[in-house]
This record gives sequence, structure tokens and C-alpha cells, in this order.
Amino acid sequence: MGMLDGKIAIVTGAGRGIGRAESLLMAEEGAKVIVNDVGGSRAGEGSDKTPAEQTVHDIIAAGGEAAVNADDVSSWQGAENLVAQAVDTWGRLDILVNNAGILRDKMSFNMEESDWDDVIRVHLKGHFAMSHFAAVHWRNRAKAGEEVSGRIINTASEAGLFGNAGQANYGAAKAGIAAMTIIMGRELARYGVTVNAISPRARTRMTEDLFGEMAKAEEGKFDAFAPDNVAPLVAFLASDAAADVTGQNFVVYGGSVWVMAGWKAAGQVSRDDRWTPKELADAKSTLFADRDPGLPPFAF
Ligand SMILES: NC(=O)c1ccc[n+]([C@@H]2O[C@H](COP(=O)([O-])OP(=O)(O)OC[C@H]3O[C@@H](n4cnc5c(N)ncnc54)[C@H](O)[C@@H]3O)[C@@H](O)[C@H]2O)c1
Repeated sequence: MGMLDGKIAIVTGAGRGIGRAESLLMAEEGAKVIVNDVGGSRAGEGSDKTPAEQTVHDIIAAGGEAAVNADDVSSWQGAENLVAQAVDTWGRLDILVNNAGILRDKMSFNMEESDWDDVIRVHLKGHFAMSHFAAVHWRNRAKAGEEVSGRIINTASEAGLFGNAGQANYGAAKAGIAAMTIIMGRELARYGVTVNAISPRARTRMTEDLFGEMAKAEEGKFDAFAPDNVAPLVAFLASDAAADVTGQNFVVYGGSVWVMAGWKAAGQVSRDDRWTPKELADAKSTLFADRDPGLPPFAF
């Protein structure tokens, strides 16, 4: 018995890295998986069906069920096709894992319009387009009287939660995904759909030159940066055991899982009158009195 027996899943960007590990584990747990990957470069150029085909091949070789999809998740039509493929192939959709992504790191003053547009398009629009068509599918089924159990697992990033210099495009997209997780969690609860996000750390094509020596696997030791360490949390969130977990964002890496808490008031000045700019400047030390010095804006 697997935790996902009989479930129908889509995993985007599943030809390599974290998405591949998620697909393999979800299939091992009994899900039938549409393995999506456009197969472009790390920066999002070109296309190649081979990585998605390889994941499907490996799932089937291990005794699971999977089908290839090479649509671009950031195209409205591509996202619609992908959800339709799950329904046409296996009758419905239960789980959507939004994982596909690209990277174009540059400081804000060096960033070109296409670096901004492409990263926002693939991550933010890609997550939304897929979630939109999955939500339409689940709402229609719920309205037809069916008991729906839908799951969306988004992929945010600590770059979007804490901010990272050189990633204005990527961090803004990931912060948007974190917000969208809360918003869609609220919207879809009434239809039996949960929406959560993970912020993973793993050694993949995307990060191999970023983590450096720290992420090198050592013979005979637990490989904390293996993408396979991220997949169990996603499989759990996709299962019936997580029916009461929604709107959450988890940092996950190695053998650790953290539940993150969002924006909250960290200081306050209030009165029954309007402030002048000068008065606010004078109240600055009160406003920031309880601020955690470890969190942005760090220091002044
Ligand atoms: N690796 C990390 O430490 C880390 C940290 C934080 C967040 N993430 C996020 O995890 C996700 C997976 O990243 P990864 O590290 O496995 O990278 P990766 O480059 O190994 O995999 C990403 C996959 O997405 C595919 N893809 C890109 N654009 C696509 C599109 N428009 N349509 C369909 N597929 C597309 C790529 O072809 C690639 O196979 C990304 O969203 C990334 O931002 C990764």
C-alpha cells in the first residue's frame, strides 16, 4: 500500500533535479504521474523532450505508471493542455506539483528586461496558469456533486522569503508564489483542495555552482543536499494524511523540515491623530524597539 495509491498527479519541470525526485517517489507511493518538462537550459533557452522521457522511463522500469508532457507551463495554452492530458489519460487530476523553474541571476542595475520577464513568466505565471486550470477542474467536479480531494504543492524559495542580492526577478516571483499559496488556499478550501508551498535546498543543475563545497556528497555519509530529501515532504502533502494542512510554506532540506510563519507586526506606534514626517522620525526608536536584528532590513 502506498500513500498515493490511485491518485493522478502532474509534476512540472520533472525531467531533472527536484521535480524528477518528486515524480519517482510519488509513483513509488502509487500515483500515476504526468511528467512535464520543456527541457530547456538552466536559463530557460531551447527545448528537449529527452529529460521528461527519461523520468517516465525510470518510473515505468520501477513498476510505476507515468506519461510524458513537454508543454511550456508558462503558456496559458500549455497549462490547459497539461491538465487536459491528465483528465484524458486517467480520468481526473488529484495532485498538482508546481516545480518548473529557470534562473537568470543579475544585480538589479545589470538586469535586462528579458531576464525579468522570462523569470517572472516561468515561475509566477507558470505556477498560476497551472493552478488556474487545476482549480477549474476541481471546482467543476465539486459543483457536480463529487467529493473532491485536490492538492497543489508550489515551489517557493528562501530567496523569496528572506531576499537574496542578485535575485530581484527570481525572489519577487518566489515571494509572489508564497503569497499565491495563501490566497489560493483560502479560495479553494471550500472545494476540498489544499494549497501549500515548499522552499527547498538541493544540489541540482540550478544550484550546483551556488552551494559549492558545502553541498558536495561524501562517500558513506548522508547526502543532505540530494534532491531526494525534498520529495518525501511533497508526497506527504499530496496525500490524504495532509487533508488539514493548507496555506503553509515549508523550508525543506536534508533531514529537516521547518514550517515558516509569514509577515507579522514587529513594532508599532499608534495614536488618534495623524503623524507628521518629523514626528515619525522622532518615533523611530519606538517603532523599531522590538525588531529582531536577524531579519531584514538587517541594520541601520
Ligand atoms: N535547488 C534548490 O536548492 C532550489 C532552491 C529553492 C527553490 N528551488 C526551486 O525548485 C524548483 C526545481 O528546481 P531544480 O533545482 O530542480 O532545477 P532544475 O533546473 O534541475 O529543474 C528545473 C526543471 O524545470 C524545467 N522547466 C523550466 N521551465 C519550464 C517550463 N516553462 N515548462 C516546463 N518545464 C520547465 C527545466 O527544463 C528543468 O528540467 C524550481 O522552481 C526552483 O526555483 C530550488
